[in-house]
Amino acid sequence: MATPSDPQSAPPADPTTKENGVQENSSDEEFTMPLITNGRPLEDAYAKAFNNNSLWRRSLAETEPELFESLGKGQSPQILWIGCADSRCPETTILGLQPGEIFCHRNIANILVNTDINSLSVIQYAVQYLKVKHIIICGHTSCGGIAAALGNKKLGLIDTWLMPLRALRQENLSLLDTLNEVEKGIKMVELNVRAGVKVLHSNPIVIDAMSERGLQVHGLIYNVGTGELRELDIEEEEEIVKSRIVSFKTED
Ligand code: CO
Repeated sequence: MATPSDPQSAPPADPTTKENGVQENSSDEEFTMPLITNGRPLEDAYAKAFNNNSLWRRSLAETEPELFESLGKGQSPQILWIGCADSRCPETTILGLQPGEIFCHRNIANILVNTDINSLSVIQYAVQYLKVKHIIICGHTSCGGIAAALGNKKLGLIDTWLMPLRALRQENLSLLDTLNEVEKGIKMVELNVRAGVKVLHSNPIVIDAMSERGLQVHGLIYNVGTGELRELDIEEEEEIVKSRIVSFKTED
């Protein structure tokens, strides 16, 4: 519970309240801190989050005074992160990085397919224009999308999105049937990350960047219960690399 001394939820000292319910910290002219309350208690998730922004940006401006000025001019992230939309997997936070360091695409269950214009556009922009040096595709433990694909309950539109996971389930059914429920979930997370890596490896833009400038692809699993990242071994045999490039590389 929030207490008056909790800096995450309590208003700063000496707030004044305006007519519209927006509070402002009048003690600091340089950093105006609008506190939207509009009758909401500060424990309200939105009010707390909005107010945290003021605290966060002020703190960051103190510890890294040039960061915002630099970010205002542009971005040059070295990492593209493809992960799950799950609230427990905020990529910048779990990697201990700052704004500007990760270009990101997140969807339910970090599914990558060759026909999704959304993720394909993110990949193209990150690789071709931002020239990222690494692409990380990361699955996670306790993934709801994975659990849904391992069950048989009708969910509606989400079922269409999860179809690639059901295909993976079918392809690996005999293996999955030998595992208990927890192991089954982890195995599906791994299979899904490996499938995503395969999609990346068959993307002509990624293929070119790998051979021309050493772009690296990484497959990771994040444990939401411990905060730990695990790297999957996605090394390919030379023959497979060759056949992949022969089959998928395209040129003008
Ligand atoms: Co998930």
